[in-house]
Amino acid sequence: MEFYILSIFPNMFESVFGETIIKRAQEKGLVKIELVNIRDFTHDKHRTTDDYPYGGGAGMVMKPEPIYEAMDYVKSKSPNVHTVLLTPGGRIFNQQKAKELSKRESVAIICGRYEGFDERVRYLADEEISIGKFVLSGGEIAAMAIVDATVRLIPGVLGNEESLKEESFENGLIEYPQYTRPREYRGMKVPEILLSGNHKKIKEWREKEAKKRTIEWMGEEDG
Ligand code: ADE
Repeated sequence: MEFYILSIFPNMFESVFGETIIKRAQEKGLVKIELVNIRDFTHDKHRTTDDYPYGGGAGMVMKPEPIYEAMDYVKSKSPNVHTVLLTPGGRIFNQQKAKELSKRESVAIICGRYEGFDERVRYLADEEISIGKFVLSGGEIAAMAIVDATVRLIPGVLGNEESLKEESFENGLIEYPQYTRPREYRGMKVPEILLSGNHKKIKEWREKEAKKRTIEWMGEEDG
């Protein structure tokens, strides 16, 4: 799978994509991530990517031309690329969407900045995604979250595919509580059932706890 990430701050991605699972996925050749600097597609001396809004008002607006030209470049390499525009008003990202993206061959993610982008940039997008009902100062952190959640679902990326099946959201449930050594820490004990060796009982206990957490979680959800 390949990602093209269009941003005016490509350096922001280097540490996140240069570590852990995303790094290994790239090394294994399962994922290719190309950071596309929108500024490279400007033609003026100051490499301008924003301008004043028509009609007046506060703040600057991202110009359409550098983003269109950056997408021309991406499409020259990957004509069928699926294009995502990140915006706080988009459809809220979730595990289902991560799964859907992980099945695609090629995804471009356009990160907006400032107060927004020229409306015509929206015509480039196959879909608009938000990572939550809050406003970030740009799409970069949202893109990192989406790439992370998506990459780990690509077959072969995680060493242990079983861990995916057990994981939160996969079966519609939040994950059950996990413990490791020591058996007791600062007075907090590992539940006896987990030490019992009774696999049937352990499975039942985990299912019950997962359901309990799911009910609590649904109560907090604000849609
Ligand atoms: N850009 C600014 N806020 C955002 C959000 N919540 N999700 C995605 N992109 C954004």
